[in-house]
Amino acid sequence: MLINGKEYRSVWFEEGRLHLIDQNLLPFDFKTVSCQTHQEVADHISRMTVRGAPAIGAAGAYGMALAAHNAPNNQFRASLREARSLLLESRPTAIDLHNALDFVYEQTLKFIPDYDHARNVALLAANEFANISAEDCRKIGIIGAELIPDGARILTHCNAGALATVDWGTALAAIRMAHRKGKNIFVYVDETRPRLQGSRLTAFELEQEGIPHAIITDAAAGFYFWKKEIDLVITGADRICLNGDIANKIGTFEKAVLASEFKIPFYIAAPLSTFDLSCREGRQIPIEIRDEAEIKLFGGEYLSNPNSPALNPSFDITPAKYITGIITPKGVFKAKEASQKVQI
Ligand code: MRU
Repeated sequence: MLINGKEYRSVWFEEGRLHLIDQNLLPFDFKTVSCQTHQEVADHISRMTVRGAPAIGAAGAYGMALAAHNAPNNQFRASLREARSLLLESRPTAIDLHNALDFVYEQTLKFIPDYDHARNVALLAANEFANISAEDCRKIGIIGAELIPDGARILTHCNAGALATVDWGTALAAIRMAHRKGKNIFVYVDETRPRLQGSRLTAFELEQEGIPHAIITDAAAGFYFWKKEIDLVITGADRICLNGDIANKIGTFEKAVLASEFKIPFYIAAPLSTFDLSCREGRQIPIEIRDEAEIKLFGGEYLSNPNSPALNPSFDITPAKYITGIITPKGVFKAKEASQKVQI
């Protein structure tokens, strides 16, 4: 992705360290952080320095590579197991994290007791996960752009951009590619309370790419559907079940219901790492509940009645019946069929 004219990935490994763009500071400040241990990586994932399902998958993969690098030979297997569970606990909903950790863990263990080789393999496997993820997103962009008509007014929720992935994005990859092909598009950006991934991060990425857009409050989408000013909706996903139900940022479900009411196409865009082949339906997905402080305070100041409790589910489930299609690197599929089709 281009940030102030320079190419970046949101997550990359260089000189023995994992580097992350600090997404909590954007768009006001551009800084990167680096990690030398898997504990630091887990901490940055739970504090959302890095966020977005494919991006936390890649960060987790590199966390495992750091754990392998730091593990003594006589506790190699146990150290990797401990690192895997710590990283897994850092955020529960996005399956990309599980898939990435399992991928690096399984590749690495194959080479025990050649520990030096196993350490190299851990890093190679993490690089492979990140590169495949970026390439998946590029393909999603090419395929997804075909679904966007010239002149389209698109609604998106949260940030499913390059920042949320290793590069390109999922929903935003399609939007980015449509714009690069010369299509005249406009994006309605849901603010995405409480952490404002839409108004901070999606708006920032669209501005960097020169794509016309406006931020709207989460509650305003219905008004723009009603005014017939939204032609399609594209969002990302944190987990896709076998029956086509998906988890994504809280508020996605109500946008899908609105799209259905107004007969507007509602697409999900996701790489292969977002499919959970062990999950039958949406009710089995663990939903992360975050701190009530994210709702009640902003910049350390109360926005809400201080003594009232607040409930802060970070994700919701959109049932398959509301999804027009899932845009994957292998094509666009009906939600109910997507898990089977991506395996072919
Ligand atoms: O809590 P976040 O910011 O990690 O939530 C991110 C989302 O919900 C994204 O839409 C999802 O991860 C898809 S990103 C390509």
